[in-house]
Amino acid sequence: MGDSPGWDVHVADNLDGRERYDLLTSLVVPRPIGWLGTRSPEGADNLAPFSYFAALASSPMLVGVSIGHRASGPKDSLTNIRGTGCFTVNVVDESHVVAVNASSADVAPDVDEFRETGLEKQEATAVRAPSVKSAAAVLECELFREVDLGDAPNTLVVGRVLAVRVRRDVKRRAGSLAIDTASLRPVGRLWGVDYSTVGEILTIPRPRA
Ligand SMILES: Cc1cc2nc3c(=O)[nH]c(=O)nc-3n(C[C@H](O)[C@H](O)[C@H](O)COP(=O)(O)O)c2cc1C
Repeated sequence: MGDSPGWDVHVADNLDGRERYDLLTSLVVPRPIGWLGTRSPEGADNLAPFSYFAALASSPMLVGVSIGHRASGPKDSLTNIRGTGCFTVNVVDESHVVAVNASSADVAPDVDEFRETGLEKQEATAVRAPSVKSAAAVLECELFREVDLGDAPNTLVVGRVLAVRVRRDVKRRAGSLAIDTASLRPVGRLWGVDYSTVGEILTIPRPRA
């Protein structure tokens, strides 16, 4: 047995914000990207990516997205979700990664990132929000809960998925509604400006009781 290399222990309260961000977002990887389509009550459409994003439950179907605040106030996505009570989550695949990045630009609330990035939009079926027409699948969500995250300049938005729209040409797993991951070609967020694609898929049967 070789010697243990030992540990660097970073006490969270002794780190600055940048250090905490770097450690957390380089270790919790890859993160799925919730690409949120929203609309302001005045009718301005908005598209932005969020990788503090997760599936939370399936019955009901719940997803969570942690939206940061700017010094000037909440980001447009949060303002819109508060105003209309709904949003779409557009699944990000390899064909979208450049547009995803472009849609993260910090622009004025009345700027439509669909138009800026040249993405065609499509109206959701179950909520009044725009979605990305070329997305392989879209989760159409209503606001379920807004959770204050204490000192964090973030708000956790929990969305209840009312409808899941899957493009007909997306391959399914035989005998189920599950989507074939290899053909979906999803993209994850790593640290900073790094993204990941799906590598080798390991299929490991669960242990028997
Ligand atoms: C891949 C990616 C992931 C991001 N994840 C988050 C996130 O989880 N939370 C957040 O507040 N901002 C995140 N951002 C930054 C927002 O997308 C950016 O602030 C955007 O301008 C917000 O748009 P909005 O003001 O239209 O809501 C991310 C950016 C990129 C490129």
